[in-house]
Amino acid sequence: MQKTWSDLDHYIESHLIPQDVRLQQAIDNTDQHGLSNHLAVAPNQGMLLQMLIQMNNAKRVLEIGTFAAYSTLWLARALPKDGYLLTIEGRDSHAAVAQENIRNAKMDVNIDLHIGMATDVLNALPQNTPPFDFIFIDADKGSYPTYLELALQFSHTGSIIVLDNVIRAGDIIDPSNNKPSITGIREMFEALKDHPKLLSCTALQTVGSKGHDGLAIAIVK
Ligand code: DHB
Ligand code: MG
Repeated sequence: MQKTWSDLDHYIESHLIPQDVRLQQAIDNTDQHGLSNHLAVAPNQGMLLQMLIQMNNAKRVLEIGTFAAYSTLWLARALPKDGYLLTIEGRDSHAAVAQENIRNAKMDVNIDLHIGMATDVLNALPQNTPPFDFIFIDADKGSYPTYLELALQFSHTGSIIVLDNVIRAGDIIDPSNNKPSITGIREMFEALKDHPKLLSCTALQTVGSKGHDGLAIAIVK
């Protein structure tokens, strides 16, 4: 099925996803550094992130897990010139490529890349830091429960939280799979269930060029 899913993603892209040299440049540069673009969102998923930001007129966006900044550039594309994007990457080697990709893209919007653990970076922000309107969580899956609570701490009524990779080809319902990345996602589902700070929440399975995975979306109460 993977070939069909990939072919269909390419069909969707060729019709609906405009070419953006800034995005292509990031993909090429990431390849050249020997990092796998498989860890980035697919173009049609990037467009979904863009659209969720546009739908909510989000101006302040937080990304936990920059990787090489491909998704970051999609988030930035969606923002008005006076928007603000904070993206946090825990790994120096990824952050170095991300910084290059962000610099090369010359986006209109202010993009701050912070290196460190999300908890440390966010807790070190000034006390008067306004909350974020849109939060994309795409970092180490074992820490998803922590990142969800952090996201809630830095959000306001109506903020949108999107979590990537919450299905993992079905591994999350395989009782013999107890890798930290999988138990982290299961714990995240438990936390999302009837969370007192959420207005509504769902998860969708996706298939495509990135295989079988999925994303969760929540609206903060
Ligand atoms: C992996 C991580 C991701 O964020 C993703 O979108 C795909 C794969 C991974 O670590 O394998
Ligand atoms: Mg991901």
